[in-house]
Amino acid sequence: MCPHDRTMRRQVLLFISVLALNSVLGQVTYSIPEEMAKGSSFGNIAHDLGLDVKRLQAGKARIHTGNTAEYVQLNKENGLLIIKERIDREALCGQIAPCALHFQIALENPIEIFPITVEITDINDNAPVFEKGERRFEISESAVLGSKFMLEKAIDPDIGPNGLQSYTLKPTDHFILKLHSQSDGSKKVEMILQKPLDREKQEFSSLMLTAVDGGQPQRSGTMQIHITVLDVNDNAPVFTRSIYKASVKENSLTGTFITEVKASDADKGSNGDVSYVIGNSMSSISKLFHITEDGHLILKGPIDYEKAKKYEIDIEAVDRGGLSDSSKVVIDVGDVNDNSPVINIISSSNSIGEDSNMNTVVAVMSVNDPDSEENGKVQCRINKNIPFAITPTSSYLYSIETDSELDRETASEYNISVTCSDEGVPSLSSSVTLTLHISDVNDNAPVFEKSSYEAYIVENNTPGLSIFTVKARDADWNQNARVSYMLEDSSVNGVPVSSYVSVSADSGVIHAVRSFDYEQIKDFQFRVKAQDGGSPPLSSNVTVKVLIQDQNDNPPQVLYPVQTGGSVVAEMVPPSADVGYLVTKVVAVDVDSGQNAWLSYKLHKATDRALFEVGLQNGEIRTVRQVSDKDAVKQRLTVIVEDNGQPSRSATVVVNVAVADSFPEVLSGLTDFAQDKEYNDNLTFYLVLALAVVSFLFITCLVVIISVKIYRWRQSRVLYHSNLPVIPYYPPRYSDTLGTGTLPHVYNYEVCRTTDSRKSDCKFGRAASQNVLIMDPSSTGTMQRIQSEKKTLTGTRMPVFLTCWMTPLLTECQSPRMCPLVLIVESSMQFALLTTSRSKISSSASKRRMEAPLHSAVT
Ligand SMILES: *[C@@H]1O[C@H](CO)[C@@H](O)[C@H](O)[C@H]1NC(C)=O
Ligand SMILES: *[C@@H]1O[C@H](CO)[C@@H](O)[C@H](O)[C@H]1NC(C)=O
Repeated sequence: MCPHDRTMRRQVLLFISVLALNSVLGQVTYSIPEEMAKGSSFGNIAHDLGLDVKRLQAGKARIHTGNTAEYVQLNKENGLLIIKERIDREALCGQIAPCALHFQIALENPIEIFPITVEITDINDNAPVFEKGERRFEISESAVLGSKFMLEKAIDPDIGPNGLQSYTLKPTDHFILKLHSQSDGSKKVEMILQKPLDREKQEFSSLMLTAVDGGQPQRSGTMQIHITVLDVNDNAPVFTRSIYKASVKENSLTGTFITEVKASDADKGSNGDVSYVIGNSMSSISKLFHITEDGHLILKGPIDYEKAKKYEIDIEAVDRGGLSDSSKVVIDVGDVNDNSPVINIISSSNSIGEDSNMNTVVAVMSVNDPDSEENGKVQCRINKNIPFAITPTSSYLYSIETDSELDRETASEYNISVTCSDEGVPSLSSSVTLTLHISDVNDNAPVFEKSSYEAYIVENNTPGLSIFTVKARDADWNQNARVSYMLEDSSVNGVPVSSYVSVSADSGVIHAVRSFDYEQIKDFQFRVKAQDGGSPPLSSNVTVKVLIQDQNDNPPQVLYPVQTGGSVVAEMVPPSADVGYLVTKVVAVDVDSGQNAWLSYKLHKATDRALFEVGLQNGEIRTVRQVSDKDAVKQRLTVIVEDNGQPSRSATVVVNVAVADSFPEVLSGLTDFAQDKEYNDNLTFYLVLALAVVSFLFITCLVVIISVKIYRWRQSRVLYHSNLPVIPYYPPRYSDTLGTGTLPHVYNYEVCRTTDSRKSDCKFGRAASQNVLIMDPSSTGTMQRIQSEKKTLTGTRMPVFLTCWMTPLLTECQSPRMCPLVLIVESSMQFALLTTSRSKISSSASKRRMEAPLHSAVT
């Protein structure tokens, strides 16, 4: 309690001395500071009262305090007043000043009373004290300047200068202290806000309020003032960046996390709670993206690089108080190879000619891939092994061109499949197929199946007989491949070849025009040309060799011995002739060939069969036995010469043999040979008969020829105006031999099939004035028309042999324009009689077919 003892003691001594002076007045007054140490003395009564110490002892001096506490003690030995109890002025007097102890020194013997006053002076033994060591304030940061906050006072029991003097507040950043003196002398302490508070800068602060007194040394008391700044929503959220960048691949799944945005709000609590919204709420962006409360930007819908490569999203951050900040998220959409190339054919040809030049463009197409970079780089190719190539003409245009020669005959159609693929990983591709037809060009000549032909025909054939067929194929198409055949002009033995053979233009069937005679001509050759229907036409030709085969149509002819009508020649055999004597040799030839000309000789009749024999092979007549005189002079041998044909033909020869040594002998026997005359007469009769028949036939022939001539002239005039396809007619050289074989074999029966209207292209016929149509189902044109006619007759498609008689009934024909025409068609199936009149024929082709009365008739 007395930190500064030394100083105090000096003060005390000073006071005592002063008081001692006052004691002279009879009343002793001491002034001592409070808080003197126990046992310390502060005055000498004996001295101050002028008393002897013995008196004090004798008088049993004592201190009388009444009922108050005894703070002071008297030492009777020396009269010193001694502090007995600590004296606290504040306890003794409080704020009352001056403060003194009043007591009396009482003496006995005699009783004497001396009042003593001990004035207690204040020392600064109390510091100012606050009732509470700390004080808390919660102040809104929005508190206005000048706001006052009452602080409590400090208490200092000391008085006077030792009492409370002033306050200080530290630090003074925001607040200053203001003191108001009050009537009781105390002070009201206020703290005034002089600078705005900011919770965000400093939420908590501590101030120290210090109260000081005026003592020496000065004492102070402090109080902590804790200030908590209450938050006010005075801060908007602030994004960490003004622009966020992110990227996301297209076609990412819904719910894919894209990026996170963050806005901070300096405020506290709910004032600092930030929520995020997408600003472009009206646009489609809000359908694609979603932002969560905590700022995660999430994919909500499908995004397509090909529609948008970039999105800019306005993001707003809002706190509960409605303050906000905005930022932007820029999203780059990453391309994924999700688009196949798109092929568009801009133009393409359906067909090109096989003679097209190299690099002929057949198609142009555009190819487009909306993807980017490698994903959008496209390569196109076409299938291999076709004569086409694809070339890029610009960044997205491709053309398909021919890159080698085309040949329709090798490939008439191409499927060009174009495949375009991008360079993405994995690569996507698409393809189209173009079908291109190669159109025909007449670039192939007809080709005969063989390089040359050989055909065989047996002589004495019927005219019109088909010998055989040449066939040429043309690799081209349709009209370019329609082959027609024709004879090339040449001559055989000075006769035009067309009088030997004809060729059917459509079918290539070669017909014999005439009957051949092996003995006149053994073979001949000609050329057949095959020509296609192209423009210009192409043709080729082939050699046809016709070999005529022999028939045994000639009997052997005996050259020797010569058979004359009158004279008789005889061979002579001397009577002495030996066995095997060569009498003569029958020499015969046969104009046929081969077996047909292989002659054998036989003895048919003989006067004496035993005498002669005939060499089978050589015709040598030899004696078989010795000739004797008994043998008749005249020997008559009949030798048959036979050829080896099938059937064989023969000739007989009579050999007269005279068995004599000399010619006169022979002559005598000659008359005997005359008996053969009967035989010769017979022969003459036959010859005359034959001549008569020939003459009759010749006349008949003439009549027929003339009538046919007239008829044909008429008919050709009619046909000129009609398209009548089948015109049977009798050729000018018509002659009917009825197969008697006595006339020269000149057969010229023609059936004229018209392709155009008036020209004949085929001739054939048969000897018995019957014209044979050989229906070849493969032939076209006129033949088909004939066939259709035929179908009406038979109702079948079978090949039918038609035999036609054309009988112009001239006798009944009064007016040339109304000549009835009878066409008798004999088929293998049935017979029909077509009767029509010329006027009807000439009306029209179709009408003719419809109107022609058709009768089944059996002839
Ligand atoms: C082309 O394609 C069509 C249809 O797929 C097919 O009928 C034809 O045979 C093909 N042609 C070639 C030459 O492959
Ligand atoms: C027949 O064909 C040959 C080649 O095969 C040719 O040299 C000749 O000129 C042709 N003849 C005619 C008359 O066209």
